[in-house]
Amino acid sequence: MTAVRPDIAPKQAPEATKFPTGFVWGAATAAYQVEGAAAEDGRTPSIWDTFSRTPGKVRNGDTGDIAADHYHLYRDDVALMKRLGLKAYRFSISWSRVQPTGRGPAVQRGLDFYRKLVDELLEAGITPVATLYHWDLPQELEDAGGWPQRVTADRFTDYAAIMAGALGDRVGTWTTFNEPWCSAFLGYGSGVHAPGRTEPASALRAAHHLNLAHGRAIEVLRGQLPAAVQTSVTLNLHQVRPLTASAADADAARRIDAVGNRIFTGPMLRGEYPEDLIADTRHLVDWSRLVQDGDLAAISRPVDLLGVNYYTPTLVSTPAEGSGDTRNDGHGASDYSPWPGSEHVAFHLAEGKERTAMNWSIDPNGLYSLLMDVTRDHPGLPLMVTENGAAFDDYVSPEGRVEDPERIAYLHGHLDAVQRAVADGADVRGYFLWSLMDNFEWAYGYSKRFGAVYVDYASQRRIPKASAHWYADVIRRHGLPPTGPA
Ligand code: FCB
Repeated sequence: MTAVRPDIAPKQAPEATKFPTGFVWGAATAAYQVEGAAAEDGRTPSIWDTFSRTPGKVRNGDTGDIAADHYHLYRDDVALMKRLGLKAYRFSISWSRVQPTGRGPAVQRGLDFYRKLVDELLEAGITPVATLYHWDLPQELEDAGGWPQRVTADRFTDYAAIMAGALGDRVGTWTTFNEPWCSAFLGYGSGVHAPGRTEPASALRAAHHLNLAHGRAIEVLRGQLPAAVQTSVTLNLHQVRPLTASAADADAARRIDAVGNRIFTGPMLRGEYPEDLIADTRHLVDWSRLVQDGDLAAISRPVDLLGVNYYTPTLVSTPAEGSGDTRNDGHGASDYSPWPGSEHVAFHLAEGKERTAMNWSIDPNGLYSLLMDVTRDHPGLPLMVTENGAAFDDYVSPEGRVEDPERIAYLHGHLDAVQRAVADGADVRGYFLWSLMDNFEWAYGYSKRFGAVYVDYASQRRIPKASAHWYADVIRRHGLPPTGPA
């Protein structure tokens, strides 16, 4: 299945680095998950402010009001990144901070925050990688219909132009969207994410308008930014595997690949929606009306990089009538499916694999095959691992340390998968650990810790975990240490 190229996979001692020169070592966060300062300097609520205030939506009633207080502590955070030797920081911009309500002129104080953050990073020798949208639609745009409405793509294009104008001279890599699958299908399908709607047809419409907004934003960025600036989008491409070799399970995998992956890669990278996706969902939307003339040309504006986020594979089957768990798909339990047209598909956890605190099975080979599959399907497309990491139940020891050997093992295994993919021909330009620090983990609130740096929320004290020191060592040596955990 995978095109392995032994001709370019030199036999090297395990400790020798296989990461290309210039490979970028980074860590990632997202605005609503870390910034806090929810009502400061003119920021207005986003859908996540509203959702997290809605009883029962987020564990323990947690909100991003304060989060890791990155808005106030960004200087210290950049200094910490520098101490850890990070080469790049991937952050997202809160739309409602820079353009409250999602339309009209920008607010200078909002823009100033990102300009100061970027300047601080540049001064520390850390490359800023900016994401325009990591799930936090201004609430007023949701009130006007949200992503299922085409006009939201128009609004996003204006916002992209504002940001290109404000930071275009100092940010070298731009990402339009983070995981638009989650925005469309968890936000409007299963409802486990903001805005919490459970409308299968709206979820599909949202996906198209997110695609359109992406393509138009690429056009705006390309038009406004210097040629050397890189544009990208980040997708959570599900590494879908059938449970058995049966034809029925193969069909389940095909369906989830269509509505989980190819609904984005099709229009973005090939200029077309997959025929099988259209067939699977035509009872829900009229694609010929949804997709207007010129849309596919706009959506398929070339990107310089594809960002991929990977945590765990997706194991699926077509259950016999009445059997199988169609709700446990790893994205949060709901009575509503985030898989329009394929609601009957069942999801499984691989047997015999270790799990993280999210109950996601640990499988570095999934990252290897993901990178190789994308390379095979889209030859020559430069890739960036924009998120990878794991939550564990971290705690501070009486000596004040956070020992997280499981996270080190997870990162070691996945970085090894990256270097294997590179050796086998994948053009992977960098790796961003999710996350720089513990933060608001969406519907799980603060109950899940993904950080390399521990955050004591009561004091906002940062404590680099053992994994942060381990990662700093990886960065220093530009490769994996010779004796890492298996
Ligand atoms: C990804 C999100 C990121 C974080 C990780 C754990 O889907 O992009 O914000 O929540 O999962």
